[in-house]
Amino acid sequence: MLLMSKRRRRVNLFRFRREKNYGFINTCLKSLVVEKYGEEIWENLRIQTGVQDTFFTFEVYKDEITMQLIDTACQMLDVSPDMVLKQFGEYFFEFCKQSGYDHMLRTLGGNLYEFIENLDALHSYLSLSYQKMNAPSFRVEKNEDGSMYLHYYSDRRGLCHIVPGIIGAAALDFFNTEISMEIVNQTEEEERTGKKEHIVFLVTQKPVFSYKRRNKFSSSHFLPNSGSQAERRLNKEELERTMNKIRDKTSAKRSHWETIRGIVTIGKGRLLKGFDPVYPRTLWIDPKTFCIGLPFHIIFDEHLRVKQAGVSIQKIVPGLQILGIRLNQYFTIVRPEVKFTISSVQRFINSQFVFRTKREMMPDSWKQRPMLELRGQMIWMESVQCMLYLCSPLLRTLHELEERHMHISDIAPHDVTRDLILLNQQRLAEMELSNQLERKKEELRILSKHLEEERKKTEALLYAMLPKHVANQLKEGKRVEAFKHK
Ligand code: HEM
Repeated sequence: MLLMSKRRRRVNLFRFRREKNYGFINTCLKSLVVEKYGEEIWENLRIQTGVQDTFFTFEVYKDEITMQLIDTACQMLDVSPDMVLKQFGEYFFEFCKQSGYDHMLRTLGGNLYEFIENLDALHSYLSLSYQKMNAPSFRVEKNEDGSMYLHYYSDRRGLCHIVPGIIGAAALDFFNTEISMEIVNQTEEEERTGKKEHIVFLVTQKPVFSYKRRNKFSSSHFLPNSGSQAERRLNKEELERTMNKIRDKTSAKRSHWETIRGIVTIGKGRLLKGFDPVYPRTLWIDPKTFCIGLPFHIIFDEHLRVKQAGVSIQKIVPGLQILGIRLNQYFTIVRPEVKFTISSVQRFINSQFVFRTKREMMPDSWKQRPMLELRGQMIWMESVQCMLYLCSPLLRTLHELEERHMHISDIAPHDVTRDLILLNQQRLAEMELSNQLERKKEELRILSKHLEEERKKTEALLYAMLPKHVANQLKEGKRVEAFKHK
């Protein structure tokens, strides 16, 4: 186990790349200090750190500001960075919920494992709005004993203790489990292309409520080992019995309706607990329809040799029409940040993969265009020893579509990327409005502060020039009758 000393951790807070982060983070930090410790402490903190009072949500600020705020807060409150960061993590979770992301977080996964598994997808979605985001990345592994290993990768050093704060709060709120997280390894990631901080947490859970009660809140269980042994054995036996019944019944010749009725009635709905899909013996689709129907897909073998590709992707990367070329000649992997080898892809198979076309491999006349990014999932096909990359173009706006000389019609009608582009176009316009609103609010705040200062000066002048009772009356807007003063 590689735990760092408190002293080293404090030094590490300053070992970061020249990165920037969105005002969302600093606003959350300010809100935490104001809410938990009061306005005065915030004022002291920001003066000591020499930072501004207001941060705009959709504007980027140097990481240095966040790091300095955290480090100064640790010194002022005399607490370790781990504690401050953990508290920040817990608060960040609530802050996200209150900032309109409650549903998004709540529906991310049916259990903590799925929740963590989808964090990359969440940040990837958020990057549609926060375009300059350099989000962390997460990977999760289940252990036999029900615990998990959570891998956290980031370009920033010293922020890892935010993670137990956020994950702990999410586990308690969404899955009614208390968890403990301890760092079991801390390395510079070699598997990834960038030199990222890679921290491995061991996540163990203790349920707050009983198994039955917890199920009311969560659609699936936390981990396969949850619930009592007997309960698990019963569920398994019941499922097997039901599946056997279906197999027996469906193997005999029956009408379509009878099959459906059988499926619905057997097990009186308990069947829904397990699901066994049916596969055709041969695939009822011809290669042409497949390549048209899934215009953005690539199949490649373990040597990264392209075996087939969808029609739109062939149009955008003409090199793909020569089957047998190697995929890494034409694309780089943007996310997850791994080397372009089949073993790396297999290792991160559950992650969303973002590929970017290589400029040097594009026709000369296209070299001025921004390169296209693809986002999708990898599926390993054991029987043919090939990888299927099922993807869509990663485009945020219609402008980005036009810049790449593409059209909505290049995207399959079933692909929700069409809607995403249009929706995001609208969302960015709304964000611009909210940005302007935040700026006006800040201008107003400064104006009213100046106004207050001027009012105080006028008042001081009034009291210096006139007798107190006259000044008081004038201040209250009353008329003052003329009379003689000695
Ligand atoms: C919908 C809710 C969320 C929003 C809006 C959000 C947004 C953000 C933003 C804007 C950043 C700054 C990145 C940058 O500007 O480069 C960030 C960083 C971060 N996010 Fe999220 N996030 C959310 C949920 C989560 C969750 C559930 C986790 C769980 C662990 C998480 C973990 C982190 C961490 C650890 C960082 C710090 C940066 C780093 O480690 O490199 N976020 N997030």
